[in-house]
Amino acid sequence: MTGKIIGTGSYAPAYIMDNNELATYVETSDEWIRERTGVARRHIAGEETVSSMAAAAAKAALADAKVEAAEIELIILATNSPDALIPACSCLVQREIGAVNAVCFDITAACTGFVLAYNTAQAYIASGLYKKILIIGSETLSNIIDWSDRGSCILFGDGAGAAVVGTSEGTYYTPVAHTDGSKAEALTLTNRFVGNSITKKQETTYTSPEFFMQMDGQAVFKFAVSKVTEVIGEVLEKNNRRPEEIDYFILHQANQRIVEAISRRMKQPIEKYPMNLMDYGNTSSASIPIILSELGRDGTLKPGDRIVIAGFGGGLTWGASIIEW
Ligand code: ACO
Repeated sequence: MTGKIIGTGSYAPAYIMDNNELATYVETSDEWIRERTGVARRHIAGEETVSSMAAAAAKAALADAKVEAAEIELIILATNSPDALIPACSCLVQREIGAVNAVCFDITAACTGFVLAYNTAQAYIASGLYKKILIIGSETLSNIIDWSDRGSCILFGDGAGAAVVGTSEGTYYTPVAHTDGSKAEALTLTNRFVGNSITKKQETTYTSPEFFMQMDGQAVFKFAVSKVTEVIGEVLEKNNRRPEEIDYFILHQANQRIVEAISRRMKQPIEKYPMNLMDYGNTSSASIPIILSELGRDGTLKPGDRIVIAGFGGGLTWGASIIEW
C-alpha cells in the first residue's frame, strides 16, 4: 500500500504586484529582477491569511479528488508564516472546510515543508494509521519579508496549494531528505517573541531588520544548485530509477537560474522542469503544490507520469521524493 495524490487545488491572492510596482518601493528594475531570478510578478495577500488561502486550496483539492471533507483523517499544513503560533493553521482549515474527523498539525521546514508533509503522509499511510490525508503549503511571506531589502523582497510571493493523498496499490518510492543545521544562518527569521517579561525583558521594535527574513542569497543559491542535484541523484539511485525515466522534475520555485543550473547538472532537458515562478515568485512551501495543481488542471501531467518533487530552503533543509501521477 502506498500514498497517491488523488486531487490538487491552489489559491493565489487577487492582488498582483509586478516588478515595475516593486521598483517604486526599492531601488531595482524589472530588467534586473527578470534577469537574476525569472520573476515578473507575484501575488500579495490583502485580506487573505495563511489559513484562509489554505482552506480555499483545500476545498479545490477535495473537489478535484471527489472526497468529502469528513473523510479526511489528517491535515498537515506546511508554513513559515503562520497566522498565529496557537492555534496551528491546520486547525483553522479543519474548521473552515468541515473536516471534523481530521487530526491537525503544522510543520515548519522552510521551502522543503511540502515535500516533508508529503513524506509524512506517505509514512502514515504505510503504517496503516490513516488512508486519506490533506497536505497543504500556504504562505503570506509578504508579512515576514523586509520590504526595504532589495536583495530579498523581490523574490517572494503569497499563495497556497493543497493535495489529497489517498491510497493506491502502486509502487512505493523511498524519499530522501536532509538537514544541515550548521548552516542555519543562511536564512533566518528571528522569532518575534524573543523575551519573557521576567528574565529577558528587552526593548523590541518590529521595524528592526532581525524581525524580518534575513538571507545570504549567494550562499542559498550555491547550496540549492549543488545539494538539490545531489539529492535528486540520491532518490533516483535509492529507487533504481534513471533520470531518463522521470517525466518531470518539479522543483521548489525559487529562482529560474537555480532550476536551469540543476537541469544542466542533471543533463535533462529544461522542458522537463516546469516553472511558474515568473507569475508567483517564490511562495516557499506553497510553490510545489501550486505548480502541481496547475499542471494537473491544464492536462500537462498525465496518469502514470513519474515525477520528482524537490524542495530546499532554510534550516538548511532539502529533500526529494518520487511520485506517480
Ligand atoms: N535590484 C538591483 N540590484 C540589486 C538587487 C535588486 N533587487 N539586489 C541586489 N542588487 C545588487 C547588489 O547590491 C549587488 O551590487 P554591487 O555589485 O554593486 O554590490 C549586485 O546587485 C549583485 O548582488 P548579488 O547579491 O551578488 O546578486 P545575485 O546575482 O547573487 O542575485 C539573488 C541575488 C537573486 C538573491 C540570488 O542570490 C538568489 O536568487 N539566491 C537564492 C535565493 C533564494 O532562492 N532564496 C530562497 C530560498 S528558499 C527558502 O527557504 C525561503
